[in-house]
Amino acid sequence: MEELESKINSCTNLDELELIRVEIFGKKGVLSKEFAKLKDIPAKEKKDFAKSLNDKKVALNEVFEKHKNKLEKIALEAKLESEKIDVSLYGYEANKGALHPVKDMMDRIIDYFVALNFSVESGPLVENDFNNFEALNLPKNHPAREMQDTFFFGDGRMLRTHTSPVQIRTMLDSKPPIRMIAPGAVFRRDYDLTHTPMFHQIEGLVVGEKGEVSFANLKAILTDFLHHMFGDVDVRFRPSFFPFTEPSAEVDISCMFCKGKGCKVCSHTGWLEVLGSGVVDPNVFKAVGYEDVSGYAFGLGIERFAMLLHGVPDLRSLFDGDIRLLEQFR
Ligand code: DAH
Repeated sequence: MEELESKINSCTNLDELELIRVEIFGKKGVLSKEFAKLKDIPAKEKKDFAKSLNDKKVALNEVFEKHKNKLEKIALEAKLESEKIDVSLYGYEANKGALHPVKDMMDRIIDYFVALNFSVESGPLVENDFNNFEALNLPKNHPAREMQDTFFFGDGRMLRTHTSPVQIRTMLDSKPPIRMIAPGAVFRRDYDLTHTPMFHQIEGLVVGEKGEVSFANLKAILTDFLHHMFGDVDVRFRPSFFPFTEPSAEVDISCMFCKGKGCKVCSHTGWLEVLGSGVVDPNVFKAVGYEDVSGYAFGLGIERFAMLLHGVPDLRSLFDGDIRLLEQFR
């Protein structure tokens, strides 16, 4: 009996204990063998023998259960220890993404005009001749069409060469007054340091009653806009030509790289051209059926703004998808 007890207590893990359980309590175990002796025991001793054997069994069982509990507790503790997680340890920082510099610049420009109550309009990338040229006072065979290096589809349609057709779409769809911008992608057959076949523009258009919207309004809003974007720069309106505006002006800012002294970026002129603008040509209003109205319009290249504000020397690098360039804009 004592031998069996110490056998149980000497087990150091549950697997060992299970072997001992079979050895003592199993069908062919020590106890079964003892009980088997019952049949050979004289009748009058049978009762005492059976009782003492049962007591023995109960006692052994108690020892067994006690030791089993102990080993189970040890096993559980070992498991908890091995699976422990230190929640106070530092983790890995997730990689942060960022907006593409062109998208970011587009958002910044949109925010400026939305704050001034301009609506944001859009149009399709594939345009028809009327919206992209004709209604913008660029009749067929007009030499200014050549300036646009258009991708034609051969069925009269084309990839839009500017966002100006959204002016036409908006005027055809609604009545004056209008106060809109149209951001989006445009396409031209051009590829060098400062040109890519796809780039982005924002078009602006304000239309009111005749005499209500003037060149002075255009000048005021664009001057404020350029100060908002570029800070303390000089702004200059230079007479120019666009078929859809008369008079027309290109807008320059003083070069922020050389402070107007002249450098490579501004081709030693001290000025950077950043916008096209003008008073809407009466022929444009005629094309959309507007009468007794006045308005101004402007257009700008978003990549040009991004290049100047971030000091990007090669426009093409913005579209190479090189992660090393993009990471600099986080
Ligand atoms: N559509 C012109 C371009 O792509 C930009 C532009 C110039 C738009 C003058 C205008 C404007 O609305 O008035 O070069």
